[in-house]
Amino acid sequence: MSESPKKLHIKTYGCQMNVYDSERMAEAMGAKGYELTDDPAEADMVLLNTCHIREKAAEKVYSDLGRLRPFKEARPDLKIGVAGCVAQAEGAEIMRRMPLVDLVVGSQNYHRLPEMVAAAEQGARPVDTEFPLEDKFDHLPERPLAARPTAFLTVQEGCDKFCAFCVVPYTRGAEVSRPAARILAEAQKLVDKGVREITLLGQNVNGYHGAGEGGDWGLARLVRALARIDGLERIRYTTSHPNDMDDALIAAHGEEPKLMPYLHLPVQSGSDRVLKAMNRKHTAEDYLRLVERIRAARPDIMLSSDFIAGFPGESDEDHRATLDLIAAVGYGAAFSFKYSPRPGTPAAGRAGVAPEVADARLQELQALITAQQRAAQEGMVGREVGVLFEKPGRLEGQWVGKSDYLQAVHVRGAGLAPGVLAQVRITESGPNSLGGELVAG
Ligand code: SAH
Ligand code: SF4
Ligand code: F3S
Repeated sequence: MSESPKKLHIKTYGCQMNVYDSERMAEAMGAKGYELTDDPAEADMVLLNTCHIREKAAEKVYSDLGRLRPFKEARPDLKIGVAGCVAQAEGAEIMRRMPLVDLVVGSQNYHRLPEMVAAAEQGARPVDTEFPLEDKFDHLPERPLAARPTAFLTVQEGCDKFCAFCVVPYTRGAEVSRPAARILAEAQKLVDKGVREITLLGQNVNGYHGAGEGGDWGLARLVRALARIDGLERIRYTTSHPNDMDDALIAAHGEEPKLMPYLHLPVQSGSDRVLKAMNRKHTAEDYLRLVERIRAARPDIMLSSDFIAGFPGESDEDHRATLDLIAAVGYGAAFSFKYSPRPGTPAAGRAGVAPEVADARLQELQALITAQQRAAQEGMVGREVGVLFEKPGRLEGQWVGKSDYLQAVHVRGAGLAPGVLAQVRITESGPNSLGGELVAG
């Protein structure tokens, strides 16, 4: 009789790159006989793939670990691992504060996970937060059957920008781009297994400069090469830095139909004084001019951004400059966060804005962003747009997919299934999703 497979539960926090990494870890553990489970109560191993970006995100890991204690008490064999950016930033502290943790694996060492689990099973408490010279992805198993029409694909990792508020350069290390041939091969495999849309991931994805045929490839060249893969219908990428938005990439938005007209282009603030203090190395005017150039290439492009409210030294006037920039750009979506001082970052020691002031500014940002988002959703009514269907909706016969502009769309119609790409006329808009009908033909 064969032994029943061991079960692995992974909880993923933070950004899309963690989602991608969690899949790759699941695959690496799958090769060692572990099956995924949604239920931590039946797991032999629980892995928390963590995020360090704001204090709340990082602290959540400790409370979630506390919540795992009864499981560990009931089943002392249960192994608990911490991966991701909190692991990278404070691996030793996790081990000290949380005796129930069996292993800590930093964001660049996932290829070592299976051997670390084996060590943990022998009673060791391994910690690995080195930045290795080799590429973790070279040592992870090939990607198995993707049962979904969309997939993430990491092309670049790390960040050399050192924005004064941000932990990413410390938790993900220096910028490293994967070679183009590896990315193309991985994309081809995904497409062979039914993937129709790929989102290229990088902390600074448009800074991509990987080794390719004939020398260094930028992101535009990579996108164009990917676009030649038959069966791959849509390409997206995230997250971009304004300073790396080069002419070739802007041109690709105008010329490459598979490159979707939605771009997340964080600016953080509309005040030059604050942008300087953040070490963003561009002005509000630079950003507005960049947006103009992108829109000249692709007039219907929908933009989104991130904003920070209450950065140290931010005055009312600075805050109003941010509101003005949002009004001037007109976003399809945006995210705003209250500034959170992060240990080890340059801004952490600076005198902060009073919390109630930061809260009020955050609310003001969010109100303006929500209004713009609503207007963008309503502006879709009556338009025809491509929708890639992903899963059944809640109502009978209904399917849910994403529009070219990354909006959720609900449709009822014959012949819909995951992976079907169809033209849809939008008939109604809600705050979080659109409704529509299939366009005949
Ligand atoms: N690499 C991406 C995003 C990194 S983090 C980029 O450069 O845009 C995602 C977002 O979190 C950032 O855009 C920023 O708005 C926010 N963020 C990062 N550090 C933060 C902090 N210390 N406090 C509040 N928000 C922060
Ligand atoms: Fe963080 Fe700035 Fe790098 Fe983005 S560009 S990851 S905000 S340091
Ligand atoms: Fe968080 Fe790390 Fe991503 S800090 S946002 S999980 S790169």
